[in-house]
Amino acid sequence: MKKKILITGGSGFIGTNLVNYLSNKGYNITNLDKISYASTPEIFKKNVKRQNYRFLKIDLANKNKVLKIFKKIKPNIIINLAAETHVDRSIDNSDEFIKSNILGTYNLINIINKTLSRKEIKKLKFIHISTDEVYGSNKLSPSKENDQYNPSSPYSASKASANHLVKSFGITFNIPITILNFCNNYGPYQFPEKFIPTVIINALKKKVIPIYGNGKNIREWIFVEDCCKAIESTFSKVKFGNEYNIGSGYRTDNLTIAKMICKLLGKVEKYDFKKLIRYVKDRPGHDFRYALNSSKFKNKTKWKPKTSIENGLKETINWYIKNKKWFKYTQKKYSGSRLGKI
Ligand SMILES: NC(=O)c1ccc[n+]([C@@H]2O[C@H](COP(=O)([O-])OP(=O)(O)OC[C@H]3O[C@@H](n4cnc5c(N)ncnc54)[C@H](O)[C@@H]3O)[C@@H](O)[C@H]2O)c1
Repeated sequence: MKKKILITGGSGFIGTNLVNYLSNKGYNITNLDKISYASTPEIFKKNVKRQNYRFLKIDLANKNKVLKIFKKIKPNIIINLAAETHVDRSIDNSDEFIKSNILGTYNLINIINKTLSRKEIKKLKFIHISTDEVYGSNKLSPSKENDQYNPSSPYSASKASANHLVKSFGITFNIPITILNFCNNYGPYQFPEKFIPTVIINALKKKVIPIYGNGKNIREWIFVEDCCKAIESTFSKVKFGNEYNIGSGYRTDNLTIAKMICKLLGKVEKYDFKKLIRYVKDRPGHDFRYALNSSKFKNKTKWKPKTSIENGLKETINWYIKNKKWFKYTQKKYSGSRLGKI
């Protein structure tokens, strides 16, 4: 029988892609999500195989509901994606970041610890999804798992806190945890406030494409399907009780990404999209560079990212062009205004 997987935050960007990917592979999926502004409603999840997927609208803050579901499902694997994720919003107000990212994770792992027997806990796999941002701005060689966390934003600080909590429960209570720190993802279903969707959507509307600061900040980019495959490979291939960094190795500055998107779109629409690019006031505390050393994960799992940046961007652009209904829906939640200015 295929494994029973509980995914938290399965209606967000990575979650929607992961639910599609794993349900098509026959896993038995329960998606627990509070449904925030950034979530994709169920009506848009057309690729999901319904017989092995169910959705439950629950906030991780609601301990009783989470506990009830937990007892009912008895999952073999838990993938904790649920989080507030936009750095700019964490600058405007960090309350929800502390609640969901720290307290939400605590509730989940505490319920496991308090309600399951030691025998049941031993058989469980708790996969906590985190970010390269916990290491802060990286100036020297790419971040390794034993590097010190040095977060700069309320978002990354909340993620670093959650990582610490998860690790501590692993050590103290022998809960089989693994922490996966991913680089920046991009692909279908990413909420329009994030960088790559902003560039694509503003270009398609022939609106100004805003670039923070001088556009030289560097990020490592992974196509979301490669991220989903990396998560799946942890089910059987990693040693639990460990933390792994997972990046594509493809690092470049924001201006270069914006120009690549403009070039790809220009081939379709015969328009000079680059002329829409404008520099705008930088994000406060903007980390200059993220870079991950992914050797530990790659050596353990033999996983490799398969999608080149050019193919990934082409697929993403086509998805945004074809999914206007989804985009119209997101516009009701976010008008495109600048966030995170102080
Ligand atoms: N997107 C990236 O580039 C990236 C990179 C590295 C790590 N991550 C991590 O991956 C995870 C998913 O990121 P994403 O980009 O899909 O985020 P997202 O913002 O698109 O989606 C997050 C989902 O979590 C849900 N959620 C938030 N708080 C919740 C709560 N208290 N209870 C239940 N559900 C809750 C939201 O409703 C939303 O559907 C996050 O933990 C994020 O930190 C993302």
